[in-house]
Amino acid sequence: MKLDKQARTLDLDPRDPDFFNDPYRYYAVIRSECPAFYWNNYNQWCFSSFGDVNALLRDKRFGRQILHVATRAELGLPDPKPHLTHFDAVEAHSLLELEPPAHTRLRTLVNRAFVSRQVEKLRPEIAQMTHDLIDQFASQGHVELIRQFAEPIPVSVIARMLGVPLELTGNLLDWSHRMVRMYEHAPTKATELAADEAAQQFSDCLRKLVAERRQAPKDDLLSHMIATERKGERLSDDELVSTSVLLLNAGHEATVHQTGNAVKAILENGLNPSELFADATSSEATVEESLRYDAPLHMFTRYALQDVQLDKHITIKKGEQIGLMLGAANRDPSQFADPSSFKFNRTDQANVSFGAGIHFCLGAPLARLEMQVSLPILFERLPGMALQGKPCYRDAFHFHGLESLNLNW
Ligand code: HEM
Repeated sequence: MKLDKQARTLDLDPRDPDFFNDPYRYYAVIRSECPAFYWNNYNQWCFSSFGDVNALLRDKRFGRQILHVATRAELGLPDPKPHLTHFDAVEAHSLLELEPPAHTRLRTLVNRAFVSRQVEKLRPEIAQMTHDLIDQFASQGHVELIRQFAEPIPVSVIARMLGVPLELTGNLLDWSHRMVRMYEHAPTKATELAADEAAQQFSDCLRKLVAERRQAPKDDLLSHMIATERKGERLSDDELVSTSVLLLNAGHEATVHQTGNAVKAILENGLNPSELFADATSSEATVEESLRYDAPLHMFTRYALQDVQLDKHITIKKGEQIGLMLGAANRDPSQFADPSSFKFNRTDQANVSFGAGIHFCLGAPLARLEMQVSLPILFERLPGMALQGKPCYRDAFHFHGLESLNLNW
C-alpha cells in the first residue's frame, strides 16, 4: 500500500489477499494518517472515519442515483452497455438504486412486511429450520458452515416470505451470486455477461410467478405487493420484478456472510458462548457486536447530486462518486473504545453495518432475528465447535465474507 499523506492519495489493490483477508490493519493506518483520501484504484474520494461515513450516508447532497438530476451527456457518462440490458432493467426499478420521490413511494409499499413486529412472527420457523439443518451434520463431527448452515437459512426464509417455491433455491443462489459480482471492483466482461444472463433468467422466472399470483393470490409477500395500494398507486410488473430480485438477493447475501464472520470471530477470540447467548438481551448484543466487529459489506458509494465542497481540499463535482467505508468506520477508535476487541456488552454500540439515512437496510430486523435465533442454537447444540484451519475471505473486498468455514467438534 502507498498512502501519500500530503497528496491525500492511496494506492492499494482491493484484490490483494493480504488486504481483503484482514482489511482492519490497513484501515487503522489509513484512518489515523489520512481518513479522507483519494483511492487511485477506484478513482474516487473515500471516507473511513465513523463521523464522515455516518454523516455522508445521511447527506442529501449525495444519492445512490444521479440520472434523475442530470443526463448521461451532461455528466460525460458512457452509454449503457448493450450486453447489460437485462441487468440494467432490473436495477432501473431497484429500491436501492432510486432516490426520492420514487424511492419513498416504493419503500413505503414494501416496508410493512419487514418491520420488527412482522418478522418476529418468523421466530419459531427459523428455530425449527436451524435444528433441522444441525440434525443433518451434528453426528458427523465436522461441517463446512457456510454452505450447510449459513446459506440455507436466509435463502429459505426470504424465498418463503416472497412465495418463491423452495425448489428454486439453487437457481436463486446461482442468479444472485452472478449478479452481486457486478458490485465488485472493475467487473470483467465475462462477469457482466454472466450477470446479465442471470438477470434475464431471474426476471423471466419472477414475471411468470407474478402472473400466477395475479390469477390466484396466496398469503405471501408477492401477492401482497401485487395487491398493495397507497394513494391509488400500485407496483408495476417491472417494479415487482426488480423489488423481488433485490429482496431475494439482499435478503441472503450479507446475512450468510455475517453468520460466518460472527462464528469465526467468536471461535477465534475464544469467547464464551454461554455468556454471549445467556439470554435474549445478550444474544441481541452479541449479534450487534459481531456486525460491528466484522461486517459483511465494507463499501457503498454515493453520487454527488451537486458540486460539494467537503473541506478546503476536497471538492466533489456533481456526478462524481464517493466511497463510504463501513468496515473502517466500525473500528474507529474515536467512536468505539478498544475497537479491535469483541465486547458484546459494550455501551458504545452504534455501528453503520446496515447503513444510515434513507437507504438504511430494509431487512435489518429480519437479518438480526435470523442470527439472534440461529447462533445460540448452533453454539448450544455443538459446544465443542472449533476452527479447522485458518478460514480465508473471498476475493471480493466489498462483500467481506468467508470462502468456507470448516469446523469440527
Ligand atoms: C447482515 C445482514 C445485512 C447487512 C449487513 C445489510 C446491509 C445493508 C446496507 C449497508 C444497506 C444500505 C446500502 C446503502 O446505503 O447504499 C442495505 C440496504 C438494503 N438491504 Fe440490507 N443488509 C443485510 C440484510 C438484509 C436482508 C435480510 C434484507 C431482506 C429484505 C435486506 C434488504 C435490503 C434492502 C431492500 C436494501 C435497500 C434499502 C433502500 O435502498 O431503501 N438486507 N443493507
